[in-house]
Order: sequence, then structure tokens, then C-alpha cells
Amino acid sequence: MKKSLLHKPRIVRIEKVRNESNTVKSIVFKDRLCASVKPGQFSMIWIPIYDEIPMSLSLDPKSKLPMIVVKNIGEATNALHELNIGDSIGIRGPYGTSFNTGSAKRILLIAGGTGIIPLLQIAMESNQREYKCDIILGAKNIEEILFYEDLKSADCTLYPVTEDGSLGKQGLVIDLIKKSLKSDYDVLMCCGPEPMIKSIIDVARKTNIGLQVSLERIMKCGIGICGSCELSGFRVCKDGPVFDLKELNAMYNVLGNLKRNHSGKVIDFNTK
Ligand SMILES: Cc1cc2nc3c(=O)[nH]c(=O)nc-3n(C[C@H](O)[C@H](O)[C@H](O)COP(=O)(O)OP(=O)(O)OC[C@H]3O[C@@H](n4cnc5c(N)ncnc54)[C@H](O)[C@@H]3O)c2cc1C
Ligand code: FES
Repeated sequence: MKKSLLHKPRIVRIEKVRNESNTVKSIVFKDRLCASVKPGQFSMIWIPIYDEIPMSLSLDPKSKLPMIVVKNIGEATNALHELNIGDSIGIRGPYGTSFNTGSAKRILLIAGGTGIIPLLQIAMESNQREYKCDIILGAKNIEEILFYEDLKSADCTLYPVTEDGSLGKQGLVIDLIKKSLKSDYDVLMCCGPEPMIKSIIDVARKTNIGLQVSLERIMKCGIGICGSCELSGFRVCKDGPVFDLKELNAMYNVLGNLKRNHSGKVIDFNTK
């Protein structure tokens, strides 16, 4: 397949659909470019009639085929939840930067809610790699913990944290990190709500441990042209979505405070 095809929507057939929770579904498909996705990269998913939206790409722990994992929060994600085996979606990518395990021997994965999606592949591949992973897996409650059984079967140590205590320790991810972060990790890899990410940056700044974080902003083109994902001069689609501590320091004051809306206007981060 020619490299230029990366930017053209390819129509793929859905091979499997699986409920991961009450609000989250995995959609599995075949695509040659997506089969070699690096952890943390994303694709632009076109849902005919509705919209084109960014979704992290991963590999299905069961079939090893490419998959997206979709939380139903609005029109386009609801339309994705309506699809079944044999239906089609359009796909561009994989795009963006990825988590870099490099020469790391000990990695701590930190996921809040759907934040486990871009980190899943790193955990699932740890038995074939040089590194060992611990995983802090946070959610509001046991219902919202994703891929628990798959992660348990991977060669990783799991630390679930739920706000209501229905699985693992009760509390927030950041409470557990502040209490028990060991200094023998080479790198922390993180995805989740921005306030959580900001607290983790604060922790990482006080240690010699590396940090890589996946961020989200409104994306339209996904390839660095339109500027809708701009964050402190970075284009999240092209310079990210995975950023290192140096880059995160440069955008620190904006994180959790400001974002752009669908019209490109800078607005308060908590505005819906
Ligand atoms: C790099 C990246 C990876 C993502 N990976 C996943 C994933 O793996 N699984 C998942 O469920 N969601 C993921 N998202 C978020 C997903 O793109 C939004 O939930 C989706 O676009 C919402 O569309 P909607 O029409 O259903 O909701 P809407 O009602 O249109 O929007 C609801 C909210 O979703 C966000 N949103 C809407 N459109 C976009 C857009 N074009 N780009 C970014 N955010 C948007 C806005 O905050 C908005 O307030 C990712 C976003 C980015 C940027
Ligand atoms: S989405 Fe267009 S520049 Fe990032």
C-alpha cells in the first residue's frame, strides 16, 4: 500500500464488536496500516452521515487485529455504538506520536477511565519485551474499569483504584501515586483526565523519572493543518498526542485551564 494512502479514508469492514462496559464498546477491523500501529497513535474515524472523529488505535488483545474502543458520549460515538459486524467505517491514519518504551526496564502505566485505551498495547506486549510494567488503573467504580481480565492475563502487576472502593483501593489515582511511587521506574506513561495529568506532572517534576502523557483536544484534520488542536503552540495531532515532560512543562499553565471549542475559540477548560 502506498504511504500517501495514510491520509485517504479507507473503508474497512467491522469484524467484531464487544461490550467492554455499559458505555464502552470495542470495534475490531482489518487494515494493513493500522495493524502496525504504535501505542498511543490515533486514527480519524469517519462515520458516514455523522462526523469524522479522533480515536486511539490499539490491537485487540484477543484477535490481535486493529481496534478502536469507543465511549458513547455524543452523536458520533453513539452512531459508532449502533454499528454491527459487517458494517463499514472510514479510517485515516495511524497518526501522531507514540509512547516510547526505548531502553526502559521498569514502566509505570497510569490510566484514568478510558485512558487505558492508548496504553493497552504496551501492557499486552510486555511479555515479549525487555520491560516490566506496573499498572495503576483508575475509574469511578468497578463498572468503569476497562480490560481488567486482559490486563490480569498480561505479564504486569495491576493496582486498581476506584472512587467508591468497589475494586482495589478506594480513592483517586493520584492519591496512590503520592503514597507509593517507587523510584525504580524509568518512565511513567499516563493518559486520563487533565487535572489528574497535571498532578502527575507535579509528581514527576520532583523525581528523576521520565514522563510521557497522551493528551486530547478537538481534532478536525488530524494532520497538522487546521490548527483546531493547538495547545501552547503545539499541534496535539502532529506534535502529539504523546508528549514528554519537557513539552508538558512548556504547556503546563494551559493544561486543565484552557482549550479550543469546535469553532477554534479558546475557552475555559471546564466549559462543555
Ligand atoms: C487523540 C485522541 C484520541 C481519542 N481516543 C479516544 C478513544 O480511544 N475512545 C474514545 O471513546 N474517545 C476518544 N477520544 C475522544 C473522542 O474523539 C470524542 O469523545 C468524540 O470526538 C466525541 O464525539 P461525539 O460526536 O460523540 O460527541 P460530541 O457531542 O460532539 O462531543 C462531546 C465532547 O467530545 C469532545 N469532542 C468532540 N469532537 C471532538 C473531536 N473532533 N476531537 C476531540 N474531541 C472531541 C469534546 O470535548 C466535546 O465536548 C479521543 C480524542 C483524541 C483527540
Ligand atoms: S487537528 Fe488540524 S492541526 Fe491538529
